[in-house]
Amino acid sequence: MEWVIETRGITREYQLGEICVRALRGVDLTVRPGEFVAVMGASGSGKSTLMNVLGCLDQPTDGEYVLEGRDVSQLSRNEYAEIRNQRIGFVFQTFNLLPRTSALENVELPLLYDHAERVRDPNGAAVAALERVGLAERMHHQPNEMSGGERQRVAIARALVNNPSIVLADEPTGNLDSRTSVEIMSVLQELNDQRITILLVTHEPDIAQYAKRIVVMRDGRLVSDRPVWDRRSAVKDLESMAGSDDLIDGRDDVRGLVGGSMSGEVRQ
Ligand SMILES: Nc1ncnc2c1ncn2[C@@H]1O[C@H](COP(=O)(O)OP(=O)(O)OP(=O)(O)O)[C@@H](O)[C@H]1O
Ligand SMILES: [Mg+2]
Repeated sequence: MEWVIETRGITREYQLGEICVRALRGVDLTVRPGEFVAVMGASGSGKSTLMNVLGCLDQPTDGEYVLEGRDVSQLSRNEYAEIRNQRIGFVFQTFNLLPRTSALENVELPLLYDHAERVRDPNGAAVAALERVGLAERMHHQPNEMSGGERQRVAIARALVNNPSIVLADEPTGNLDSRTSVEIMSVLQELNDQRITILLVTHEPDIAQYAKRIVVMRDGRLVSDRPVWDRRSAVKDLESMAGSDDLIDGRDDVRGLVGGSMSGEVRQ
């Protein structure tokens, strides 16, 4: 398969009384399997609207969307939901975890809503997803007992529990400090190394440098599309941070992060 995502002339209009808001004005975007795309652009330029369409959370007003070789623009609501649940993982700025519910149960949730019950062992799948983001030892904690970075890793585990081929992340580091943001980027880079296609919305140029390609939106259109030449490695950046602020930061976030399937011990 050449393209995992292929859109032609995607538009999305919102009718607000007399006013028509044209959030997307004809987006042509193709993404290959294994790409890591950062979507940038000013507030209101249509980034979230595009992610919602690509993630099958919302249907375009017009245009064609071919997802993994299948034209999904004309599907029924149920078929749409089915594709979303099976093929795509979503990560949001605000984590969107259920309070007073353990990490494990939060991650299990999408499987419990799957009426087809494709995954026979939801509990085992949830534990495996938490291991992938290095959080197995925190699985019985509730969101209010975890740091922002840990909560976002739980949200990433929830996005992974169905084994999607695509992860869409809308400003996943928007509520995190810079060090924690790099930790989240190391998780996303690791997943991308495992051939998961990633699209990430960010306002921060530094964060976009962890992607392989940057597209920029303006007024509902793509206005720039370029590869990242000097790509950053989040694991390397964390290593140099660990060396510089070991004494300041008593917590052991970095080691926790690489404790699961993440490779390489970065702090002794
Ligand atoms: N549900 C909606 N109803 C009406 N207008 C909407 C709706 N959602 C988004 N819009 C409008 O569509 C345009 C694009 O919004 P969108 O949320 O995609 O922007 P964005 O690039 O994600 O911005 P931000 O960086 O602030 O998150 C904006 O003008 C917004 O006001
Ligand atoms: Mg947005």
